[in-house]
Amino acid sequence: HYPLRRQRQMCIRDRSYIDEVKSVKISLKEVNSDLICFGVYKDKSMTPLGNEIDENLKQTIDSAIEVGDIKGKNGEVNFFYVNDHRYALIGLGEKENIDSNSVRLATGSAIRAAISKKTKTVTLDCFCSGLDSCQAMGEGAVLGSYQFLDYKTNNKNHFEIKKVEVLGSNKEQLDKGVAIGRAICFARDLGNHPGNTATPTFLAKAAEEISSVEEMTLKVYDRDEFTEMGMGGVAGVAQGTDEPPKFIVVEYNNAGNDKPKVIVGKGLTFDSGGISIKGASKMDEMKYDMCGSIVVLGVLHALSILKPKINVVGIIPSTENLNGSKAYKPGDILTAYNGKTIEVLNTDAEGRLILADGLSYASKHYDPEYILDFATLTGAMVVTLGHIATGVMGTDDSLMNKVKDSSEKTGEKVWELPLWPEFCKQIKSNIADVKNMGSAGQAGSIAAGAFLKEFVGESIPWVHFDIAGTAWGSKPTSIDPKGSATGVGIRLVLDMLEN
Ligand code: BES
Ligand code: ZN
Ligand code: ZN
Repeated sequence: HYPLRRQRQMCIRDRSYIDEVKSVKISLKEVNSDLICFGVYKDKSMTPLGNEIDENLKQTIDSAIEVGDIKGKNGEVNFFYVNDHRYALIGLGEKENIDSNSVRLATGSAIRAAISKKTKTVTLDCFCSGLDSCQAMGEGAVLGSYQFLDYKTNNKNHFEIKKVEVLGSNKEQLDKGVAIGRAICFARDLGNHPGNTATPTFLAKAAEEISSVEEMTLKVYDRDEFTEMGMGGVAGVAQGTDEPPKFIVVEYNNAGNDKPKVIVGKGLTFDSGGISIKGASKMDEMKYDMCGSIVVLGVLHALSILKPKINVVGIIPSTENLNGSKAYKPGDILTAYNGKTIEVLNTDAEGRLILADGLSYASKHYDPEYILDFATLTGAMVVTLGHIATGVMGTDDSLMNKVKDSSEKTGEKVWELPLWPEFCKQIKSNIADVKNMGSAGQAGSIAAGAFLKEFVGESIPWVHFDIAGTAWGSKPTSIDPKGSATGVGIRLVLDMLEN
């Protein structure tokens, strides 16, 4: 037997790089922060604070506009040092096109500007006057402050802002945005930890920390238990690793007997491909193969703070996919939790095998209003939609429309792929009920979706999200730092749950 890998012990939740975000109603004269930010549109008009600035500052800004330094592009930052104050004018973009997305990004830019100047206190003018999107400001502020420096031994770059105040904002919306932002940062941390820290045990510990509130209960099944229960998918994939696998179930109950909404997330903490081993190039990125599970944990984190009157169940099958001597092999046949048999043609198509048990469990033990699943499921997804949009597939038009509405509102782009019968036939096996691959080189993401459909109970509305392209690797922005898990999906799900 191998010794257990060393686990770093730490409190996983409630870390942040921004202490307090407050809604305040004061005039510019009463502000004494280290940095005062207000916004400018492309037409050079400004957010409300622009009407309060004195002649000195106004002249300086006018000169900067004249020489062309201020264009009002979203994300642009110009500093001014006038009357013993430090100001930053933040570009917001076209006034007519301003939406919660541009507000979120601009707020992120303001916070990144504050971090670049190491200012402890920041005042932000409300960037969304009239738009009703102070939530986006709360999200943008917290996401803009995100840094992941756990493995730098001298944390000299780590900087914490003590206080951000947002002038004239809607407190309720702002607070909600802050809670969502913090939930996403928590999820990103989980995603960014390497495989030797973020193990299935680590995910279970994170779930335990979140579920300490009264409305939540946690159940974690270990290898012996879920094998005994008949979860042949997770058990099969987990055969190749000595790292203890977990099947994690969190129930959030705050609406009596209402049907729960169930979210299932792929928690594959490292994917070597197994016996059908991957190439070495970029294999390190397979530490992110648990990014479906962080959607579930991030959403639950937000629920534990926001406490909406709904019922939600989060399910995370979690294991490594490695090449130990007991590893499952191409040709093996596994029996999933719903009794269907699966011919394994490629051990690297493991995500769908563990999700098969997750979806079967959701369908058997609950009477879900709907099921959503999140998974970094196929490399083909990156080919199809790049790092721009998440591929979605499902069986229920009305649920799919809700997904698209929430996508529109939250700026987390999705694009639907069809689960036509022609595709669904491609995963039928000669020897078992189904096989874990479609036709070689064809519609790989859809084949995976078609496979998952076999494990969702008849008549349960369901949508599958393939986040292989969007969970990490997208172009960095003010709210999405370079080389980090994005936490994509959390904002979208929270919006759906609310409606
Ligand atoms: N985790 C991978 C999918 C993946 C690959 C996500 C690259 C993001 C970037 C998944 O387990 C996998 O390996 N899928 C195979 C399926 C194939 C063997 C049918 C793939 O996409 O190659
Ligand atoms: Zn794989
Ligand atoms: Zn995988």
